[in-house]
Amino acid sequence: MSETSASSLTSHADAAFQICITPSCRSTFSVDEVHVACPKCGNLLDIDYDWNRLPVPSSLRDFEARWATRNNPLDFSGVWRFRDLLRFAPDKSIVTIGEGQTMLRGSSPVAKFVGLNAGNLLMQHEGLNPSGSFKDNGMTAATTHARLIGARSVACASTGNTSASLAIYGSATGLFDVIVFVGSGKIAFGKLSQALDYGALTLQIQGDFDDALKQVREVCRREGIYLCNSVNPFRLEGQKTIMLRVLEGLNWEVPDWIVVPGGNLGNSSAFGKAFLELKELGLIDRIPRLAVINAAGANTLYQLFEEQGIRWNSGETDDVLIDGFFAKMDEEDRHASTLASAIEINRPVSLRKCLRALDICDGVVRQVSDQEILDAKAQIGAGGFGCEPASAASVAGAKLLREEGVIAASDRVVCILTGHQLKDPNATVGYHSSSPGDMDKKLAERGISAVQFANLPVPVENDLDQILETIRRRTS
Ligand code: F0G
Repeated sequence: MSETSASSLTSHADAAFQICITPSCRSTFSVDEVHVACPKCGNLLDIDYDWNRLPVPSSLRDFEARWATRNNPLDFSGVWRFRDLLRFAPDKSIVTIGEGQTMLRGSSPVAKFVGLNAGNLLMQHEGLNPSGSFKDNGMTAATTHARLIGARSVACASTGNTSASLAIYGSATGLFDVIVFVGSGKIAFGKLSQALDYGALTLQIQGDFDDALKQVREVCRREGIYLCNSVNPFRLEGQKTIMLRVLEGLNWEVPDWIVVPGGNLGNSSAFGKAFLELKELGLIDRIPRLAVINAAGANTLYQLFEEQGIRWNSGETDDVLIDGFFAKMDEEDRHASTLASAIEINRPVSLRKCLRALDICDGVVRQVSDQEILDAKAQIGAGGFGCEPASAASVAGAKLLREEGVIAASDRVVCILTGHQLKDPNATVGYHSSSPGDMDKKLAERGISAVQFANLPVPVENDLDQILETIRRRTS
């Protein structure tokens, strides 16, 4: 693919537009406008493209040409080297800090743990992004749009990773003032440390993520601040490229399953959109199945999809049932509660888009306990990867689906590791420092009672003989 083809575009604004996802509404808006919901019906917006007017490659393999021109920051970026598939901004507006240098790798021990044939379990390590999570894929796109429309102040609510990501885009580019809203005591220290270190105005709200999101939406509306949560449709455009890199890692072959943790449901929504577009453009011949994994303590999607049978239904979602579900949640004052703090969310804003993704990908939803999450996380670590607890829900979910026989041992399964191992050291050290009768207090409070894969640290005197004796005893 030549640079001339990409720059031969008439104008991004001609070919890209915002469109409401409600079939009976389908109102459209220019990409030069800022909306976090359809102004006509209130539902979510998508970014869509007039593909006939864009230089789309004839084969995904065409993108490989950009590996040779990595000195161009747009070709270096693991998001923007696929910019032909998210062409809503001209090259000169693109904000990039080198995101998307991530990798897909297999692990035989983790495949064995999940119950898959050797070589059939792959993990996409999105923790390798500049801020340590997949969020950078979306934030590069959201900040690009913010720059396009001339925003100076940007904000988000977060369980930690979105705030770390937005904060780094603010500090690394100097283009924006960043305000982040987090639930007090609700985010892992690695993430809080990032927002503080990158200089974001960090508001610790006395509440959880759902409260923080409600507040930030209102603040942005009143103050004209640019909102970077995943209600912002541009963010999801960037997150589509995670799937492109997965395909790239598989030499452009489509896997059987994509397994992803579900919180606010932006990622799963973006994945479904990516596959639908690729299929419609003739760039893939089949769509993989999607499994979205909730933590049992934050299982709105699981309850609605698997227990109440809510479906996308061509966009005619059963809103009476959905609204009733949330009304009851309020009435009972039910709040999300899981050790996987990244996905401790009860009101996923991209719910309807995720239902669409599940429809596109013949998807399933499962819930896994904190115990299952931490055990899977320890196995992922022992298998040579590392991730934060929420990410391990993907592997725990794959294991569950394998046990149920929904996933076959011969299926090729890609689990998305959404956040880096160093994000939440307390959870990791707590697990590995526990033993059955002596559990870490925070873990015990969450009902963790077993630590079958704990790698206990060994206390030893500051004495050479004792050190040598301990090593010999442990390694003989
Ligand atoms: N994994 C990690 C590590 C996350 O940080 C998140 C979301 C998810 C999974 C869930 O992804 O929302 O697209 O379904 N974290 C958000 C945040 C909510 O504020 O950082 P999702």
